[in-house]
Amino acid sequence: MNILGIESSCDETACAIVRDGREVLSNVVYTQIPLHQPYGGVVPEVASRAHIEKISGVVAEAMKEGEPIDAVAVTYGPGLASSLLVGLNAAKGLSLALNVPLIGVNHIEAHLHTPFLLDSGLQKGSVPTAQGSVPTAFMPALGLAVSGGHTTWVDMPAYGEYKIIGQTLDDAAGEAFDKAAKLLGLGYPGGPVIDRWARGFWNGVADYSDAAVLKTLAYPPSIRLPDGLPRFPKGHPRAGTAALAGLDASLCVSFSGLKTALLYHVRQHPPSNDAEKAGLVAAYQEAIVGTLADRTATALKRRRYKALIVGGGVSLNGRLRTRLAEVAAEADVPLMLAAPKYCGDNAAMIAGLAYYRRNVTGEAALAVDVNPALQAGDD
Ligand code: KG4
Ligand code: ZN
Repeated sequence: MNILGIESSCDETACAIVRDGREVLSNVVYTQIPLHQPYGGVVPEVASRAHIEKISGVVAEAMKEGEPIDAVAVTYGPGLASSLLVGLNAAKGLSLALNVPLIGVNHIEAHLHTPFLLDSGLQKGSVPTAQGSVPTAFMPALGLAVSGGHTTWVDMPAYGEYKIIGQTLDDAAGEAFDKAAKLLGLGYPGGPVIDRWARGFWNGVADYSDAAVLKTLAYPPSIRLPDGLPRFPKGHPRAGTAALAGLDASLCVSFSGLKTALLYHVRQHPPSNDAEKAGLVAAYQEAIVGTLADRTATALKRRRYKALIVGGGVSLNGRLRTRLAEVAAEADVPLMLAAPKYCGDNAAMIAGLAYYRRNVTGEAALAVDVNPALQAGDD
C-alpha cells in the first residue's frame, strides 16, 4: 500500500511516498531555515506564506515517478496553526482529486516512527533488514521525542499506542539549544551550531570558523567537564508542582532555568574569545544531554521495555546519541535511532506512520480542523 504524506507543521514543507509503512519511495523536504535565520527563530507568517508558495511544487516533485497512491496522510497537529492549515488543505484537495482516503497523523508520534523507515531510494522493491526492524517486534517500547517544540517520553505498550509518562514543563530541548545560541550570537538553528562548537571544544581546536570541518570531528569516548567550566542545572522539577499535571516529577524536566543560568553566567563572565565560548557551549550541552539521559534511564527502570525509540531534530546531536547508547546498553535494550535525514521534520514519517496508526480518517478526516496542541496518544 502506497501512502503519500504531507507535513507542514513548522518550517519545513514536505511530501513523501512510503510503501507499507516503511519503504520510502520518494522524500522531498523544502526547508525554510534561511528565511527565518535573520529573525533568530521561526516567524509564523513567514512560514505559512512560504508553505503556500512551495507546497504544490514539493508535492509534484514527490509524485514525479508516477507511483500509484492508495491514501493521503497529513499532519494535523501539533504545530503552528497557520502552517498546519496549508498542508491539511493541500492534503484534503489531493485526497478528493485522487479519490483515495485521507488520514490525519500526529507529528510527535510520527517522529517516533522514523527509526523504522527503510532507506529504499536505492533499493526499490527490496527491504533491507539491517536498518531498524518491524516495529511490532519491539513492543513495549519507551519512546523519546526531542525536537524544537517537544521533549516527551512515551510508553508504547503496542505499536500505534502512546501514553505520555514524562515531558518538559516549559522549553523543549531544541528550544534550549536555540535560545542559548541566540544569546551567544551563534546563529539559528542553535542545536547544530552548539553540537559543532562542542565537538571543536572536546577536540581542542583553535579555529571555530569552518563549520564543515567542525562537523567531522568525533566526540572523545569519555567526557569530563574541566573544573573551570560552569555546572548548569539539570532541570529537576519540584514534586507536587501543578505544572506536572499528574506526571511523575522524576520523568519530567524544566529547561527554562538552564537558559536563565546561562544568561546570568554570560553577564558576569562574558566569554572573551571563541575557545571560551566553546567551553561554555560544551558545558551547556552536557546539561541538556545529561538531563535527557537521566530521565530516560529512570524511565527504562520503571518497566521492562524491549527498545528505546528516539526521534526528532535534537536526536541528531552527536553527544546525545552517545549518551543514549550508554543508557540503553545499561538497561540492555536496543537503541532505535533514525537515519540523520529522517531526524528533522519530513513527510516520510507521516506517510509511514499512517500505515500503522490512523488518528482520524474517512469523512471525519475531510472535515478535521488543525489541532496545534495535539499530544501524543490523543485521538
Ligand atoms: O524535529 P525538528 O526538525 O522540528 C521540530 O519538530 O521542532 O527539530 C528542530 C530542532 C531545533 O531546535 C534544532 O536546533 C534542533 O532540532 N537540532 C539539534 C541538532 N540539529 C537540530 N539540536 C541539537 N543538536 C543537533 N545536532
Ligand atoms: Zn518535528
